[in-house]
Amino acid sequence: MRLVLLGPPGAGKGTQAGIICKRLDIPHISSGDMFRQAIKEGTELGRRAEQYMQSGNLVPDAVTVGLVQERLSKSDCRRGFLLDGFPRTVPQAEALDAWLEDRNERLEAVIDIEVPREELLRRLTGRRICSQCGATYHLQYNPPREAGKCDICGGELIQRDDDTAATVEKRLNVYREQTEPLVLYYRRRGLLREIDGSGDITAVTTAIGAALGRDWR
Ligand code: AP5
Ligand code: MG
Ligand code: ZN
Repeated sequence: MRLVLLGPPGAGKGTQAGIICKRLDIPHISSGDMFRQAIKEGTELGRRAEQYMQSGNLVPDAVTVGLVQERLSKSDCRRGFLLDGFPRTVPQAEALDAWLEDRNERLEAVIDIEVPREELLRRLTGRRICSQCGATYHLQYNPPREAGKCDICGGELIQRDDDTAATVEKRLNVYREQTEPLVLYYRRRGLLREIDGSGDITAVTTAIGAALGRDWR
């Protein structure tokens, strides 16, 4: 299955992607995670992406499209994949369509996770991520068993650089201006599945399952 997860910062794309990919046994491809990894490793790609990310802006399309296409070319994506945070602009969506068309492939669905703005702010400010393995937590909604420590690897939990109040505001505006047009783009193609993302993590997974014709209660 070839899927795209759409939705504003903090909607729960990464959280749901982890669950869905386990259920469907397909790779989870997050452009944001790939950029954060590159920054951590100090690569050329990381250096190019860092300033954009810290200020809440999008990394230029040419850089992002190249990175994602390279990842999609790996053999584990042949049977399907889930894209989280890509595409984020109309040119990115067009590039993805062209790339798939060249391979006689198509997207099955675009899942749009919708959450009210005040809730997005609560989710982003309370988010903590593992400095070692990148796992995501929330101080109230999804706390680790031991405060400040990752359940999976024991790594220290930290706040993401772009989860500060000013940058969150900027990211939400960038989403509205540059990414929201994709809702119409995919609705016109009959691919859009709108999901109420305001419930708890399990309720959202169930709703996504239903939109894909699966029983994920
Ligand atoms: P990216 O990493 O993609 O960030 P984002 O889109 O801003 O989304 P987030 O990761 O912040 O939110 P999420 O929806 O994954 O929510 P999560 O599951 O963590 O991109 C970062 C930056 O990279 C961009 O700003 C840009 O600079 C660059 N970039 C990336 N892709 C790009 C592209 N294609 N083009 C150009 N630039 C690009 O959940 C949030 C919190 O809420 C967590 O604490 C979680 O535990 C909690 N939570 C989740 N679900 C629920 C629930 N149902 N109830 C309660 N709490 C919940
Ligand atoms: Mg994410
Ligand atoms: Zn960890």
